[in-house]
Amino acid sequence: MGVVVPVKEASRSRGIEPLVDLVAADMERVNAVILARTGSDVTMIPEVANHLIDSGGKRLRPMLTLAAASLCHYRGDGHIKLAAAVEFMHTATLLHDDVVDESDMRRGKAAARMVWGNEASVLVGDFLLGQAFKMMVEVGSLPCLDVLATAAAVIAEGEVMQLAAAKKTSTTEEDYLAVIRAKTAALFAAAAEVGPILAGRPESELAACRAYGMNLGIAFQLIDDALDYGGTSAELGKNVGDDFREGKITLPVVLALRRGTATELAFWQRVLEHSTIEDGDLDHALAILRRHDALEDTIKCARGYGALAMDALAIFPPSPMRDALHDVVEFCIARSH
Ligand code: IPE
Ligand code: IPE
Ligand code: MG
Ligand code: MG
Repeated sequence: MGVVVPVKEASRSRGIEPLVDLVAADMERVNAVILARTGSDVTMIPEVANHLIDSGGKRLRPMLTLAAASLCHYRGDGHIKLAAAVEFMHTATLLHDDVVDESDMRRGKAAARMVWGNEASVLVGDFLLGQAFKMMVEVGSLPCLDVLATAAAVIAEGEVMQLAAAKKTSTTEEDYLAVIRAKTAALFAAAAEVGPILAGRPESELAACRAYGMNLGIAFQLIDDALDYGGTSAELGKNVGDDFREGKITLPVVLALRRGTATELAFWQRVLEHSTIEDGDLDHALAILRRHDALEDTIKCARGYGALAMDALAIFPPSPMRDALHDVVEFCIARSH
């Protein structure tokens, strides 16, 4: 373990810092809303919610909402609550996802379910989803509510699709892409689309922001899935090898299966389909993935989607915000956490 995925050109990217700087004032307001909206007289709710929220997180999705609103010259306040709602939706999916995936660690700490149990994790996730929708209603844009409510349903569909595909070594690249579009990219797309909607921009700009978010989200999850084998738990803040132990068929595995020998196929079937995992199997899996360039090619695939995300922004005139959104693409591909 501890084999870091080699990502070329990482040093060229300016990372998310330019975006963080450009949205800093708005993000401070978003954080205040987030803090206020986790409140409840039922004390376990803020305890569980804040356990996760206080442990950081990149806040990538709400920053996309703020950035797209700014790119489209939005002048109102609605983007603040929508950005907070987007982060709540994300936090809720993490609480639920760690239960579904039986993950022990999140954001460098014990997953909420390890401290308060699965039941509390699911219910506090529901609370946060409810709060997210209340904020959307307060903003009062039905089209934004539609986009975000659709994303919430699609994320759940993606997670269920993934359940159905788990342990099936017959899963195709297309099946996998459909899952990650739904479980991850749909929220990135929605987060990026609501800004231009609020700003009353033409359909072409809505579609551009949506395409940016969708392609960025696909690239983001591809890298997440490469890191689940090639990253380090210390940097990721979550356990490496979770996907392997759960029998999740991610792109690195799809590629290795396609390129592998009969002996390798038998290995994947034993560990992924029959869940009979022995000491050393994760290292063995990594060696097979490396032999077939499966992590490298997953990163290449992410680069392709990253390029599509950047292309989508071409309809906007050059600006520091557009540059910052380009840098985010590079960040998501070169990231190790
Ligand atoms: C984690 O997302 C869930 C995935 C879609 C892989 P992030 O890596 O953005 O999580 P935080 O918010 O920064 O912890
Ligand atoms: C991310 O999926 C969760 C959602 C997008 C709902 P993963 O299960 O791959 O993410 P991690 O690895 O737990 O963060
Ligand atoms: Mg998970
Ligand atoms: Mg993962």
